[in-house]
Amino acid sequence: MLCWLRSRRLREEADTLGLNKKVIRVATGNAKKFEEIRSILEGYGLKAEMVEGKTLEIQHDDIKAIAETALRQALSNKKGPLLLEDAGLFIDALKGFPGPYSSYVFRTVGVEGIIQLMKGVKSRDAEFKSIVAYGGTVRRIWLFEGNVKGCITETPRGSKGFGFDPIFTPLDHSKTFAEVTMTEKNQVSHRGQALMKFTDWYNANVVKD
Ligand code: IMP
Repeated sequence: MLCWLRSRRLREEADTLGLNKKVIRVATGNAKKFEEIRSILEGYGLKAEMVEGKTLEIQHDDIKAIAETALRQALSNKKGPLLLEDAGLFIDALKGFPGPYSSYVFRTVGVEGIIQLMKGVKSRDAEFKSIVAYGGTVRRIWLFEGNVKGCITETPRGSKGFGFDPIFTPLDHSKTFAEVTMTEKNQVSHRGQALMKFTDWYNANVVKD
């Protein structure tokens, strides 16, 4: 009895410290993206661990292919299972640009470049898409997609978040992603949606106890 009580107490303490949580290893070089993923997964009872290092980003017109190839490459030199996420901003008036080229566009012309491209454009609908790729070996990879519709602002607003957050307001919201807290962003974001699908699948198929 004493032994059982002691092991129960130890288990409860470990729960409090988060030691009993399943650990998802996340391959990313982006600390802000990792923080969002960590916080979202924590909300579903999972713990995230950052596996640092530059992830390969091939040029392709499909972000699913980009995420899948990046995960395969990461699994070829890092211990699996790994989770990797790739996202893009798709602007209707620009026929989906920058979409799969979001990373390159952000690095080169940045937020200001998009504002310039959209100067005088009335239709400002856009969408963020996220692909979460997960797998233990290069032979079998699972993909989960999430998206959030919204529009591009006339000028950048806010200082939180990262990337194109200051120029994107989700549908039915007045603030940009850079004007709200990370928790508020995660509740509606493309990343939040994709990770919700991932955790549903993970809890149903991977977690056994
Ligand atoms: P990545 O390839 O997923 O890292 O993202 C492609 C580009 O989109 C990067 O320049 C990011 O800064 C930007 N991006 C990705 N996710 C977000 C987001 O949640 N908010 C704003 N920009 C993002």
